[in-house]
Amino acid sequence: MSGIAEVIKSRISANSYDTERKLTDQEMTDLIDLATHAPSAFNLQNWKFLAVRSEQAKARLLPLAYGQQKVVDAAVTFIVCGTLHPHETLPAALKPTLDAGIIDESIYNMWVGAAQGMYQENPQLQRDEAIRSGSLAAMTLMLAAKGQGLVSTPMIGFDQAAVIEAFNLPATDIPVMLVTVGYPGTTNWPQKPRKAVQDVLEFV
Ligand SMILES: Cc1cc2nc3c(=O)[nH]c(=O)nc-3n(C[C@H](O)[C@H](O)[C@H](O)COP(=O)(O)O)c2cc1C
Repeated sequence: MSGIAEVIKSRISANSYDTERKLTDQEMTDLIDLATHAPSAFNLQNWKFLAVRSEQAKARLLPLAYGQQKVVDAAVTFIVCGTLHPHETLPAALKPTLDAGIIDESIYNMWVGAAQGMYQENPQLQRDEAIRSGSLAAMTLMLAAKGQGLVSTPMIGFDQAAVIEAFNLPATDIPVMLVTVGYPGTTNWPQKPRKAVQDVLEFV
């Protein structure tokens, strides 16, 4: 198996974390650095991450995650957000791609204009894009964690409105998923079996 296939097939959604082993802020920063290498439409990068890692912040999150103990036991829970109004943030987000000479000014202007046309009057598409980008970043984060010998858990079991309020998220930030990350405890299940590929793949 290739290195990437091995990582994909051995990643688990953890239930049990080693409560003694923490991560440094630099280690969490490095994980998010890797997560931001996820793709996004037009390279919008319409995501933000909140690292819930202090005892107080974890205690605030615990009831909002319906008492899921992983939030306390893991070194950190990232609140992965997708952001709205991506057409407004694209010009700055795409500028380094222009400056690096990867795209020229005509493509830059075309993409910025296309994003304006697509998203400006379409809040549903803005929300879809926030969920898409946040989900791709969350998956990349989980693979990054696996690559560092860590385990992770994606979690949708949380009160979205309450998380927005408790962590003072601006109206443009949609909490897409919680991703808990840390060193593994002793009672995790192996990765669960998946449906047979012929049941989910169709060739046309
Ligand atoms: C969008 C999403 C939401 C999830 N929410 C939770 C959750 O709130 N709590 C939890 O313990 N696991 C949660 N999970 C983990 C799933 O139960 C897990 O990914 C699935 O059982 C497959 O496990 P495996 O990848 O370890 O094989 C969630 C997974 C996804 C993708």
